[in-house]
Formats: sequence, structure tokens, C-alpha cells
Amino acid sequence: MSEITSYLAGAIRAIPDYPKPGIIFRDITTLLGNPEAFRVAVDELVRPYADLAVDQIAGIEARGFILGGALAHQLSSGFVPIRKKGKLPHQTVRMAYSLEYGTDEMEMHVDAVKPGDKVILCDDLIATGGTAEGAVKLLRQLGAEVVSACFVIDLPELGGRKKLESLGVEVRTLVA
Ligand code: PRP
Ligand code: ADE
Repeated sequence: MSEITSYLAGAIRAIPDYPKPGIIFRDITTLLGNPEAFRVAVDELVRPYADLAVDQIAGIEARGFILGGALAHQLSSGFVPIRKKGKLPHQTVRMAYSLEYGTDEMEMHVDAVKPGDKVILCDDLIATGGTAEGAVKLLRQLGAEVVSACFVIDLPELGGRKKLESLGVEVRTLVA
């Protein structure tokens, strides 16, 4: 493990049996509340994209909003929220998905991206990849090109990275 990886791993808290028995919840609030760790995490997420022209960062509710907003600022791109159903006020496209501990539906505004827009997907964590897969499908449905997807945390034994890669999406993560 690199020094940065182990530093960031040490800034993340693990909560056993949340939100359900048997789940170890990786809680990034401790990383976000640590000014240096937050800065390092954002810098490391941004680094590979520094020379890329990107139209939008798509952040997944809720924790993907925090990191994705910081990325969008650093990369001078727009920010697109992918929200749980019923939260967006304008006309939406909707996708059902499953994740490590449940199922839900997510939405995007129909005009949030334009056909051909280059988009980076951002969230705090990829586990089964069900959430990210749903987001990639919505973005593609609207004609966007998902150039990459980035996460602070990968839970590799749950197969999310492989699922996204099998959809043809490059995946970047900081801590496994
Ligand atoms: C968490 C996490 C990802 C998703 C990953 O979000 O922030 O979005 O689960 O799981 P998966 O790879 O198995 O799909 P959660 O649904 O708990 O929403 P929250 O950020 O609103 O708490
Ligand atoms: N989303 C899916 N699985 C998770 C986990 N173990 N910790 C935090 N968020 C998650």
C-alpha cells in the first residue's frame, strides 16, 4: 500500500452492522472532517484527469455530491446531480438499481447532459457496482460519454469495479 493510500485508509471509519447486520459501513465523514485528508483525497481523485477536457462531473447522491462538487471546481467542469427518486423538480429519466444493502431508484434531469458530453462519474465508494451501473446507464441513455468513474473506496470482493469495466468504463479508486 502506498503512503497516500494508507493515510487515506486511516482517515476512514468502519462501522460494523450498519445499516444492516453483517454490513461493515465505510464512513467517510471522518475523512471529510479532516482538512488535510479531504484535500489529499480530492487532489488524488483529480490528478489523473488534470489534462482531460471534461464537460460534467456526475455525482451520485449523497456522498458523491461532496466529492463530485470539489472535482468539478478543480476541473472547471459542470456538476450534474444523480438523485434518489422524487427529489428533482424538472422532467427526469429514472433507473431502478440494487446495492450492497437494498434497492432504490435514481433520477437525472433530462437536460442535465447534452449528447456527446464527456462525463466523469463520481461517488465515495463502489461495492457491488449496482448504483454506479445505474448511473452509467442513465448518462448513456441521455447520450453522454462516460469517460471515467472515480471513487475514494473500492470494496473489490463485491465486484463493482469489474462490473463497470465490463460496461467499458475506466474505473479509478484510491483505497481498497
Ligand atoms: C452508497 C455509496 C454508493 C453506493 C455503493 O450509497 O455512497 O452510492 O452505496 O453501493 P453499490 O456499489 O453496492 O451500489 P447509499 O445508497 O448508501 O446512499 P447515501 O450516499 O445517500 O447514503
Ligand atoms: N455502500 C455500499 N456498501 C457500503 C459500505 N460497506 N459502506 C459504505 N457505503 C456502502
